[in-house]
Amino acid sequence: MSATETDRSVASQVSFTAMADGTRADYELIAEHDARNADRTAERMIALLKSMDGPSPYPISRLQHVLQSATRAEADGADDETIAVALLHDIGDQISPHNHSQVAAAILKPYVSERNWWIVQHHGLFQGYYWFAHYQRDPNERDRYADHPHYPACVDFCERWDQNCFDPNYATKPLAHFEPLVHQLFAAAKTEFV
Ligand SMILES: [Fe+2]
Ligand SMILES: [Fe+2]
Repeated sequence: MSATETDRSVASQVSFTAMADGTRADYELIAEHDARNADRTAERMIALLKSMDGPSPYPISRLQHVLQSATRAEADGADDETIAVALLHDIGDQISPHNHSQVAAAILKPYVSERNWWIVQHHGLFQGYYWFAHYQRDPNERDRYADHPHYPACVDFCERWDQNCFDPNYATKPLAHFEPLVHQLFAAAKTEFV
């Protein structure tokens, strides 16, 4: 084995300073790093959820809001993925409030069904049904998607597991109850790294 091959087998950094010069071995090293990083996605999401605790303009914190969303979904017999999606539907608020629905949907996309992705992607617009009228906006703006196959599911999500999830007297389950579902959700992506 040459010195170069030995060095490559124990390399902890790539050989290039420009991607155009990278070798297959370099990209395998990066892939190992990316896989370990991806393994910590659930931990990062749980940390983001914890950061949603504290003061809010609602009767409960934003963490309690999403916990209530997940609790109601579970009580209604939703599957594990959908319960986890209910828990994570507002995670985009901690990164980019102006487009929180799309940010959350992008994070979840590799791990969830097309239907659950679509619900998270559009839930902000669909929630407008409950408040747009106060700002001279059409509450039925969402109806431009009326013919979409996931329109009824998104209406249902907002009605049963989002707009009503600000009740301080509801028996909301703690984050610890849902953490295994978060780890389960992020355990396997359905898509390649891009
Ligand atoms: Fe939201
Ligand atoms: Fe919400």
